Amino acid sequence: MRPPSRRPIVPSFEVSGIVERVGAGVTDMKRGELVYGLLNFWRDGAAAELVAARAADLAPKPRSLDHVHAAAVPLSGLTAWQALFDHAGVAAGDRVLIHGAAGGVGTFAVQFAHTRGAHVIGTASKRNVAFLEELGADEVVDYSSARFGDRLRRVDAVIDTVGGDTLDRSWGVLRPGGVLVTIAGDAPEAIAAKYGVRGVSMLVQPDRAQLVEIAGLIDAGRVRPVVDAVFPLPRAREAFERGLLGHTRGKLVLQVVPPSDAVGRSS
Ligand SMILES: NC(=O)c1ccc[n+]([C@@H]2O[C@H](COP(=O)([O-])OP(=O)(O)OC[C@H]3O[C@@H](n4cnc5c(N)ncnc54)[C@H](OP(=O)(O)O)[C@@H]3O)[C@@H](O)[C@H]2O)c1
Repeated sequence: MRPPSRRPIVPSFEVSGIVERVGAGVTDMKRGELVYGLLNFWRDGAAAELVAARAADLAPKPRSLDHVHAAAVPLSGLTAWQALFDHAGVAAGDRVLIHGAAGGVGTFAVQFAHTRGAHVIGTASKRNVAFLEELGADEVVDYSSARFGDRLRRVDAVIDTVGGDTLDRSWGVLRPGGVLVTIAGDAPEAIAAKYGVRGVSMLVQPDRAQLVEIAGLIDAGRVRPVVDAVFPLPRAREAFERGLLGHTRGKLVLQVVPPSDAVGRSS
């Protein structure tokens, strides 16, 4: 389900910053706390000096990260986590194919699956092959020179962040009983049934407990956010236009408060 269309909107849904004020009845969060989180899609977004968020959608930010890097985590980190573990049920030893492995969601999915003990296969262009191996991918298929369907068979799970033709060609690489989770298209039941697999099309949900778990992995040095570029808020348009090109490595971050003043406030 998509958020309702309305104007004007404040874009962006993930945030890292300092709590300025808490609403009535909030007992588990206080002014001055450093938090990060994924905002509810039905509310105004995070590309702003002040953000109104539900307390339940925020968690203590990873202690080892500054706000710029913490702000790169919630949306993509939660999406990767929910796709892999809530929907696909990926476990140690599973062979997992991650499409768009070098992107915002993909870079987290590769690292989470690797830390869980899965065999990780990613798709990306040639320039990202060594980068993904360093992040924890066991195999990388360069989509510009090879068709993954010619090289792969009997995969336990596919996590698709690309959609289109990539999604359409993914059903055939799964083992019977395998699962395809897409965040970039539909997974019709009839097609899944034809291949004898399960198909899921998902929309990420805010989840404090999962953010706490992800922060733990980051602070333990087992997972890291990948920040491709940082844009000051007045250059937000440039950031969104760059994102639309579809070749971001990791995340683009809007910085609301200049670095010299960035102890608190939002990124
Ligand atoms: N449903 C949900 O809950 C949810 C949540 C988050 C995001 N999304 C959506 O999911 C999609 C992915 O989000 P994102 O933030 O991860 O995207 P992104 O960061 O913009 O993805 C860019 C990456 O995609 C790779 N890529 C492009 N074409 C590819 C191909 N044919 N095969 C493999 N990799 C390819 C690029 O690698 P190269 O540079 O190597 O080509 C680049 O690293 C977007 O459409 C986004 O709106 C949905």
